[in-house]
Amino acid sequence: TSSSNPHSQPQESGATQHRVESVKRHLSRLVAKSLCAVAADLDVEPMIEVSKSGFGDYQCNNAMSLFSRIRESATNFGNPNAVGQAMADNFPPSRIVESISVVGPGYVNIALSSDWIAQRIQDMLIHGIESWAPILPVKRVVLDFSSPNIAKEMHVGHIRSTIIGDTLARIFEFANIEVLRRNHVGDWGTQFGMLIEFLFEKFANGEEAGNQAIENLQGFYRNAKKKFDENPDFKGRAQQAVVRLQRGEDRYLAAWKSICQISRNEFDLVYKRLNVELEEKGESYYNPYIPRVLEELTSKGLITESEGARVIFIEGQKAPLIVVKRDGGFNYASTDLAALWYRLNVEMAEWIIYVTDVGQQQHFHSFFSAARLAGWLPDKKEEKYPKVSHVGFGFVLGAEGSRFRTRSSDGVVRLVDLLDEAKSQSLAQLIKRLTENGQIADWTDEELDKTSEAVGYGAVKYADLKNNRLTNYKFSYEQMLSDKGNTAVYLQYAHARICSIIQKSNKDVKELKLTESITLGHPDERSLGLHLIQFAEVVEQACDDLSPHRLCDYLYTLSERFIFLSGRVMLNCLSHCTMILAGCRVTGGNEPPVAVPSVGGRHAAMLPPAGHNT
Ligand code: ARG
Repeated sequence: TSSSNPHSQPQESGATQHRVESVKRHLSRLVAKSLCAVAADLDVEPMIEVSKSGFGDYQCNNAMSLFSRIRESATNFGNPNAVGQAMADNFPPSRIVESISVVGPGYVNIALSSDWIAQRIQDMLIHGIESWAPILPVKRVVLDFSSPNIAKEMHVGHIRSTIIGDTLARIFEFANIEVLRRNHVGDWGTQFGMLIEFLFEKFANGEEAGNQAIENLQGFYRNAKKKFDENPDFKGRAQQAVVRLQRGEDRYLAAWKSICQISRNEFDLVYKRLNVELEEKGESYYNPYIPRVLEELTSKGLITESEGARVIFIEGQKAPLIVVKRDGGFNYASTDLAALWYRLNVEMAEWIIYVTDVGQQQHFHSFFSAARLAGWLPDKKEEKYPKVSHVGFGFVLGAEGSRFRTRSSDGVVRLVDLLDEAKSQSLAQLIKRLTENGQIADWTDEELDKTSEAVGYGAVKYADLKNNRLTNYKFSYEQMLSDKGNTAVYLQYAHARICSIIQKSNKDVKELKLTESITLGHPDERSLGLHLIQFAEVVEQACDDLSPHRLCDYLYTLSERFIFLSGRVMLNCLSHCTMILAGCRVTGGNEPPVAVPSVGGRHAAMLPPAGHNT
């Protein structure tokens, strides 16, 4: 819920120095010791998860599989439960654990000490939420996301890539890692010959005229392509144009640049709406590096000739990876290899992450394999760096369940229009609600505008982020703008409500944080406290599997737990502790790294009118 600049560097304060291990990691270390005591000669990975049974807070699931591994050699364990019992008996003493119990086929349930949970929260209040940031063994990450293609349609897939990529970037930045946000735009290739030639034909005397006339770049592309396919003479000139562009002839370069600029202006409208920063290093940037990279791969014996093309064969894969086409030109894969080389050797990134739809999985798999063959990356089995990851995502579906199209009958619906629609629907909703509340007169136009943007764009982002990224989801304004269920609007209400509770309490939470100590007396307070301290491992997990939805789940549960708690206690009876717990997340100035914009100073007025009690 941050509206502050997400890209600012973490302050040079003691807070960033102080980092604590997540609860899960801490428990894993304890479990590892107990596993060692029970089966010293086996290398067993601790299996720890948040308790599902309601016994304890966490459960360890190692006993069952460990039993089947040691049943031959060890006679002293009659069943898995006995293994679990032995693990419990050998659990190292720790102040974080309150009690341990073993149930069923050997689940070891661990209840945390409430005092320790409280202490941990108190520590976070002192050291800042940064002290809960994950500790990763990397300093610099390249995040390749958004990456639309010049002169072609920027489609919803590119919006997904933009939203998911930006969120991952924010998560890494939160973890104090330098993120190189790269927009790998498709700005190179043979299609530019045809576009440039078409431009010259239409505007024989001066490229400048082009800017306005090719405002509809996608239409321009279609017409150029049509001519290219139908007119052999034009085709010949287009092919010549590619050569002259690649040779760097001024006139051709200038035309290419102006075509790119038109697309760039269009893309920027979307980035601006979504508040996303990206640095463009398009395909053309890596073009000069391709020959020497291919030379290296050739000298390593990886490249062979096949049906006139130059290719890399990859074990277990029928089709080889083509790196030089039959006409001698480079392609998507040769560019990606050169870009990877650059990112590893010039930018010195330790982790390179690509965000595209799952349709490109095969491409990434192939060229990652080629890089491994070249010795650029360690063997896949070892969890070592440098590392590459493809972050795939599913499709956006329209109302009828087929793939969402941004085309309308009369042409193309631009993605900015889609975002504008989200804004105007949320504005309508807001005005309706405020009118019902009798509050509309209190709002300035600017406030209405800002709030409807925060809600509308936030809704689009959140609808995209909340699902496991691999699943397809339906694009529905109605659903994403609903104030019920796991939506941005609900979270923003929850945020507004928490702020309002704090406001009405007339207590200075900042003061409370410093003077009061937290005691988790009520079971609901404890459950909120426990959830709060799990923030660290949720972010850790999101970094590990590159899944933003984990943060959404976390926030949703957090809101529910707090709202549940506050709903049960009369406002004036809310304990200081509850106030502080609320303040932890809301007024701490340390906001979670999820890309949902805040609603500014309008917290209280955002509260839904009916059916909700504060
Ligand atoms: N331009 C590509 C597309 O629109 C995505 C590029 C992704 N990044 C990369 N390094 N291949 O499909």
